[in-house]
Amino acid sequence: MSDKKKLMIQDLKKKKTKGEKVAWITAYDYPTAQFAEAAGMDMLLVGDSLGMCVYGYESTVPVTMDQCIYHSEAVRRAAPNTFVVGDMPFMSYQSALFKAVENAGRFIKEAGCDAIKLEGGKRIIPQIKAILDAGIVVCGHIGLTPQSSGQLGGHKAQGRTADSAKLLIEDAFAIQEAGAQLLLLEAVPPELGKYITENLDIPVYGIGAGMYTNGQLLIVSDIIGQFQAFTPKFVKKYCNVAEVVTNALKQYADEVREGAFPKEEHCYKMLKGEFDKFKAMLDEGGKE
Ligand code: KIV
Repeated sequence: MSDKKKLMIQDLKKKKTKGEKVAWITAYDYPTAQFAEAAGMDMLLVGDSLGMCVYGYESTVPVTMDQCIYHSEAVRRAAPNTFVVGDMPFMSYQSALFKAVENAGRFIKEAGCDAIKLEGGKRIIPQIKAILDAGIVVCGHIGLTPQSSGQLGGHKAQGRTADSAKLLIEDAFAIQEAGAQLLLLEAVPPELGKYITENLDIPVYGIGAGMYTNGQLLIVSDIIGQFQAFTPKFVKKYCNVAEVVTNALKQYADEVREGAFPKEEHCYKMLKGEFDKFKAMLDEGGKE
């Protein structure tokens, strides 16, 4: 286990006050979460983007609560000293308050998450309040909200007109007033990210919301070059895992076909003295 100090919600608030930026990524599996904790990541989101990044769905909509819980459990096991946020999937909170509370509770109770995130502004304030009343730390998520991308006209940047920016500012204040402790802004212009960050007391993080937010979140599959379908404008690729892995697999297949793999060093040796006995057994007719 690493000796990294796990941040709590109070630490995230202090970081905002001190002007210290927070770095987080999504993680969906044990090895990636282990790498992230070793890299000193401040927070991890087990995003419902796992639907697209891990399961190959076209959107996040089909993702189920059980899938989110399994992946959150794996991430928690791998990164015990990192603040982990569970992401509430489509239809796990929209239709009823009791359902929202029960499902949020599963992230805490079954998966050991530190907080939950849910998409939406004013229209989900009752759900935010109900989950907070159960003692759970809540992160709001506004701007481009992939679960409602149908209503938004696709995966498009939001708040690019004064009118739509005003609605997002109202949503941000409503989420803070409801008691949420964190806010995530997705795909909005930096000027709007700056305004909301500077005018809210709670930490405001961005994914594609410019450079002025209290921290940055990116999808791990984007930044390591693993997700192939598309790359949003706000992503910076830090390596190309797809290329590295494809080349390695091609080389392996070539070597197997050419008989270049395996070599002596990949083979087990018979125990001392057993080879002679083995040969004698074969000379006597093997298994007959
Ligand atoms: O599911 C996810 O990874 C997210 C991010 C896009 C913010 O919600």
